[in-house]
Amino acid sequence: MAELTRRIGLSLGADLCWPLCFEHLVKRLDLRVPWKGDTLRFEVERVTIEPFDLRQPVKYDVVVDRLTHWLNTSREWIKKGILMDGLYVFNNPWSVQANEKHTSYAAMMKLGMPIPETWMLPAKAYSADKLDAKVTLKRYGKLFDLAKVGERIGWPFFMKPYDGGGWRNVTRVKNAKEAWTAYDESGEAVMHAQASVEGYDAFVRTIGFGPQTRHVSYAPDAPLHDRYTQKVDFLSKADAEHLRKVTLTINAFFGWDFNSCESLRKQGTWHPIDFANPCPDSQVTSLHFHFPWMVKAYLRWTLFCAATKKPMRKTLDWEPFYQVAALDLPYAEKLDRYAAIADQRFETARFEEFCGTHLKHLDAEAYEFFATSEAKEAVRQKVAALFPAHEVEKFTELFWQRIQAWRAAGCP
Ligand SMILES: Nc1ncnc2c1ncn2[C@@H]1O[C@H](COP(=O)(O)OP(=O)(O)O)[C@@H](O)[C@H]1O
Ligand SMILES: [Mg+2]
Repeated sequence: MAELTRRIGLSLGADLCWPLCFEHLVKRLDLRVPWKGDTLRFEVERVTIEPFDLRQPVKYDVVVDRLTHWLNTSREWIKKGILMDGLYVFNNPWSVQANEKHTSYAAMMKLGMPIPETWMLPAKAYSADKLDAKVTLKRYGKLFDLAKVGERIGWPFFMKPYDGGGWRNVTRVKNAKEAWTAYDESGEAVMHAQASVEGYDAFVRTIGFGPQTRHVSYAPDAPLHDRYTQKVDFLSKADAEHLRKVTLTINAFFGWDFNSCESLRKQGTWHPIDFANPCPDSQVTSLHFHFPWMVKAYLRWTLFCAATKKPMRKTLDWEPFYQVAALDLPYAEKLDRYAAIADQRFETARFEEFCGTHLKHLDAEAYEFFATSEAKEAVRQKVAALFPAHEVEKFTELFWQRIQAWRAAGCP
């Protein structure tokens, strides 16, 4: 019976709070997992950025990555690790690179999801380095009337970049004049025009992490630190299950281990509006009450993938989803079948058994940890990085109190 070490790499950017908590909790858990006659131990390390030989093996079993979408060196190191060394990584880097918000809309429309009517607009401007832009547009660019597009979609609509992210350049336009102004200001960005879901009665962000999901009631007009509300049990079982299936379908389809899906409910129908967020917000400064759940979700899925040496799906294999989409079935039944594919890809049953057997003490450890000075220091560091000096104390206390409220409520 040998002692084997599973190595977990954290590939981080501005992240401060969750990795500190993650590392502390791995230490506290001090896992010794009996596994096929051996004992598994776990080591966590932060991945550094430096020159690398393509043939130098990657030593990690799992990498939790937060850089792929913008740091080419890290993305390429990860891709070679998958191709050459059997690395498992969240998220599939090819899929993050290739599948923008636009693609996610198209694919999920095809699967039958009620995505609001969405159009794409050619860019308003082209940079000087696009040498052929002038001749190309002169030949093939059709003059268009945005007012007519607006009439087809219906007013008001949302003008927003096709690749999304961080609420950048998002405008709700009520008439042709506002639409033209937003378009004129969009510059080189390629924009979507999307029908507004008006008069919705619920806005939910569902965080998906492997097979785990958490539904958060979202208040888009509140200040940043209050947008994730602290409501729990605000959804019926049926709604919660529906959003679980939607989120896992999207994540399994695109090979995204962690992602968040925004959905609006109107007259009983859930309309997904933004679900290409494959490096979801994980910071205590926005998640606060939900932050301990997020840290535990990171831990459970990482430890499961490392322990079982979950094989990385290198290609996305969309065919099974398309086969279901082609069936003559109501959407609800198709969604059941998509979710079944997702549960199979995320090994939901095996994951739950793993957590029930080997991570039984995680909840109690997390409950204790989130009362310690180390946990509070992790919160303070993130607040200090984002807030002006005179607000650090006040906001550290605010987020800390919300974590304590989570503990007092029985860690929902
Ligand atoms: N179709 C829509 N109907 C209603 N509200 C929308 C719609 N699209 C966007 N919004 C609002 O604008 C916000 C930002 O748009 P979103 O698509 O989420 O962009 P980002 O990718 O920048 O997060 C949403 O959180 C929501 O409040
Ligand atoms: Mg969004």
